[in-house]
Amino acid sequence: MQAIGTLNHPLWTKLSQAPTYETRTCDKHGEYQARHLIGKRWSGCPECAKEVARQEEEQRREAARRAKEASIARTLGRAGIPERFLDRSLDSFVAQSSAQETALQFAKDYATNFDKVRRTGLSAVFLGRPGTGKTHLACGIAKHVMQHNDATVLFITVMRAMRSIKDTWVKGSETSESQAIAALVAPDLLILDEVGVQFGSDFERNTMFDVLNERYERRKPTLFLSNLTKEEVTEFLGERVMDRLREDGGKVIPFTWESYRKKVAA
Ligand SMILES: Nc1ncnc2c1ncn2[C@@H]1O[C@H](COP(=O)(O)OP(=O)(O)O)[C@@H](O)[C@H]1O
Ligand SMILES: [Mg+2]
Ligand SMILES: [Zn+2]
Repeated sequence: MQAIGTLNHPLWTKLSQAPTYETRTCDKHGEYQARHLIGKRWSGCPECAKEVARQEEEQRREAARRAKEASIARTLGRAGIPERFLDRSLDSFVAQSSAQETALQFAKDYATNFDKVRRTGLSAVFLGRPGTGKTHLACGIAKHVMQHNDATVLFITVMRAMRSIKDTWVKGSETSESQAIAALVAPDLLILDEVGVQFGSDFERNTMFDVLNERYERRKPTLFLSNLTKEEVTEFLGERVMDRLREDGGKVIPFTWESYRKKVAA
């Protein structure tokens, strides 16, 4: 038995021999040079191998994309963003007038500067008739800050927010009223939709005020969306809330154009 280190060992001789090639034919890609590997094995068509590698890479990417999308959807779902708005974004908002451009620019600035918004607690009010894209832009902001700033967001209508509190009054409720209020105070960004839709009792107004007050104290920003006029919203939220908003540099963004739905239908 010779040591393998010696140059005249049979295996070494074999490996150091020039490789054997043979012209073979692939049904798909035609002729190629097949290289003898070992025994009866020869290398396959290099074009076929490239195709398989490309497909595998594609599948891997597709799977990663789906997993990412699913994870975003789960997060968005938890944030309360309505199903219909899961695919809406700042980029898919079409601005055709300078007023729309202003609203879109505000939303983009708000989202991209969210680290500062979060520190200062800058709030805003989106006002306009139904269908003008208030929810669309707010959800666009929500998605952006969740993805880029790791922010927690809660999107909720005033009515549901109120119900979440009233539900805790039911005997045997697992959450307490203060927990329900805390859940509205906790998010880095609270988006209150349909502000002004039927605000029943003084209790509701006061509870709302408690929530907003707590958020204000902690410098946490809130976006208010409403179909009311500025005067009606002020009446609804109360002068105090509106004053604080203004003092903090909060903005009222008017959505004065006609409904997008009408436009698309026309
Ligand atoms: N400028 C726009 N560009 C693209 N889609 C829009 C625009 N404005 C509104 N939409 C779409 O029209 C529909 C109604 O908008 P929505 O955000 O619900 O309005 P609002 O909350 O003001 O009632 C949604 O499907 C929304 O995505
Ligand atoms: Mg809306
Ligand atoms: Zn081939």
